Amino acid sequence: MHLGIRNEQSGNERRVAATPTSVASFTDLGFVVSVETGAGIPAGFTDTAYTEAGASVVEDLRSGDSIDLLIKIAPPSESDRELMSASGVILGLVDPTANMDTLTAWGESGITSISMEMVPRTTLAQSMDVLSSQATSAGYAAVLLGVTKLPKFMPMLVTAAGTIPPANVLILGVGVAGLQAIATAKRLGAIVYAYDIRPETKEQVESLGGRFVEAETQEMEEGGYARAVDEETAEKQREALASAVKDADLIITTAQVPGRRAPRLIDRSMVEAMRPGSLIIDMAAASGGNVEGSAPDETVVVNDVTILGPTDLASRVATDSSRMFGRNVLELVKRMVVDGELTVDHEDPVVGPAIVAPISSPPEGANPSESEASE
Ligand SMILES: NC(=O)c1ccc[n+]([C@@H]2O[C@H](COP(=O)([O-])OP(=O)(O)OC[C@H]3O[C@@H](n4cnc5c(N)ncnc54)[C@H](O)[C@@H]3O)[C@@H](O)[C@H]2O)c1
Repeated sequence: MHLGIRNEQSGNERRVAATPTSVASFTDLGFVVSVETGAGIPAGFTDTAYTEAGASVVEDLRSGDSIDLLIKIAPPSESDRELMSASGVILGLVDPTANMDTLTAWGESGITSISMEMVPRTTLAQSMDVLSSQATSAGYAAVLLGVTKLPKFMPMLVTAAGTIPPANVLILGVGVAGLQAIATAKRLGAIVYAYDIRPETKEQVESLGGRFVEAETQEMEEGGYARAVDEETAEKQREALASAVKDADLIITTAQVPGRRAPRLIDRSMVEAMRPGSLIIDMAAASGGNVEGSAPDETVVVNDVTILGPTDLASRVATDSSRMFGRNVLELVKRMVVDGELTVDHEDPVVGPAIVAPISSPPEGANPSESEASE
């Protein structure tokens, strides 16, 4: 079983799909691991550390044996496909919504694609939940980005030059990222307000020392996700949030509805009412934005209020994001190794729902570890 880890550093990506620690566990499971040179450097993992963990460090995976299991952070590309053995498995952040046609075509030619985004968010699969682990990093990094961009202190300071009031931070959307943002901003001494459409988040906000902003709430979907709201409800939300938005120094928005455009929580008039120098970080910018005018990876200034739409927040804490991602993936792969063979079980309650392609059970004997091309 040949497992490959690519050097995926490009643009703002600094994470790596496996750490030396997870590589050591993969070799214990029976994998032969190859890692491309420099793959872990931006995340703080040296080539030597991978070698000591039992991997071969190679300049380019294309020059070696074909890969039975390729683990990815970035969505897979044609150059990844070319590495694969005849019935190899690609596993990672495959972004099925954007890449469905490609992954389906690869599935027809024998390649299995497993989406870590589609691992069910159940108690059983908690240790494999990359959405939670990477959202934890992103929520933390968003606050630190805000701290460095804000022209103010976060905590209250009593100095000889006078008493400095604490910053007001408003977090909109209290899922995994929002909760981590509240906790991080509290640790830095800010006064934190927060709001989410799911009523049960009020207690969660308060347990972290935040103050819940009272606005529209509605019961969630089965599975714990928020439902999309109609325009009338959205308008009521914005009215109720207007005063908290106006008074905030830093706003971090994280609201998402899976498979839908992100809800618009802040419109232009609300931005215009904010104090000059205030900052908004829209973590939903890539899926349509919670804030009117935000754009992915752009800095937009409206009336001296800055709106950022960073899409690389988890990557900004690459060491720990990679550690958590590596652990999530390792736990999933452990479920797939049966009697020393990599096995794709479409009936497995965790692996099955994450298989993007091929969607039906492969024909008998199409087990990746049995592939002649992997030899
Ligand atoms: N293993 C598990 O059981 C498990 C693991 C992780 C998360 N979860 C649950 O999954 C759910 C989603 O978590 P997530 O962080 O992925 O969420 P997410 O990224 O899908 O959305 C972020 C937040 O935005 C909120 N939101 C959506 N529409 C909104 C609107 N119009 N106004 C205000 N807020 C809005 C959502 O309620 C959510 O809290 C939560 O209920 C969480 O507790 C369960």
